[in-house]
Amino acid sequence: MIQLENVCRRYAGADTEVLRNLDLQVGRREFVSIVGRSGSGKTTLLNLIGGLDRAYEGLVQVEGRRLDELDDSELSAYRNLRVGQVFQAYHLLDHLTCRENVALAALFARGRERRDAAWARRRADEVLAGVGLPDAGGRAPSTLSGGERQRVAIARALFHRPAILLCDEPTGNLDTETGREVVELLLDLHLEEEVTIVAVTHDTAISAAGGRVLHLVDGRLEERGGAAG
Ligand SMILES: Nc1ncnc2c1ncn2[C@@H]1O[C@H](COP(=O)(O)OP(=O)(O)OP(=O)(O)O)[C@@H](O)[C@H]1O
Ligand SMILES: [Mg+2]
Repeated sequence: MIQLENVCRRYAGADTEVLRNLDLQVGRREFVSIVGRSGSGKTTLLNLIGGLDRAYEGLVQVEGRRLDELDDSELSAYRNLRVGQVFQAYHLLDHLTCRENVALAALFARGRERRDAAWARRRADEVLAGVGLPDAGGRAPSTLSGGERQRVAIARALFHRPAILLCDEPTGNLDTETGREVVELLLDLHLEEEVTIVAVTHDTAISAAGGRVLHLVDGRLEERGGAAG
């Protein structure tokens, strides 16, 4: 499903590579957790898989297609339709309602990804209900709790029924109990909707719930036996 080979990523001005000859294979319907110290490159890695960052060397292939070979419209379709990304900070727009935030991609897309506005709003309410926020559609994100905002961010990522969900610290800003609810939500998506999940996390509830746990160390992923640490 997701295949990275020999991937290197260096930021301009930095002497060392954040990702160095990194390899990763994620199978269809897998739930992979990625752990690693702050600054180890976890967000960088998710942005490569999500097609947000193309300044890498090596192979990044998703569903059999190299991301560096997609043209702009194919990349935009990939980003919009195949992969859902939940960012480390929720990235919700406060001047829009939750419904508009969730439907954003569809409402503002161009060309074939653009959808009828009434349909998009209905779909937004449907995914909001799916994450346990049936009445949030008309509210501003700023009026919601942190856990609720995280759910809106997840709903937005799920809008187009992506095959892959990339989550960056989905419980990072939440208390234990609220975090557990978000973990349950991700597990449901994984088990019932068969979404392939790659989650960056420090939360052992996630790494324990999912399948493999990979450690990002010195720019590469290591599989270790035993519990995440
Ligand atoms: N746009 C950028 N320009 C230059 N350096 C960057 C940029 N983004 C990230 N970095 C650097 O790359 C390294 C990895 O950053 P990244 O955000 O991927 O880490 P992370 O593992 O997600 O950390 P955290 O757990 O704190 O979120 C850090 O040293 C960071 O300073
Ligand atoms: Mg990060």
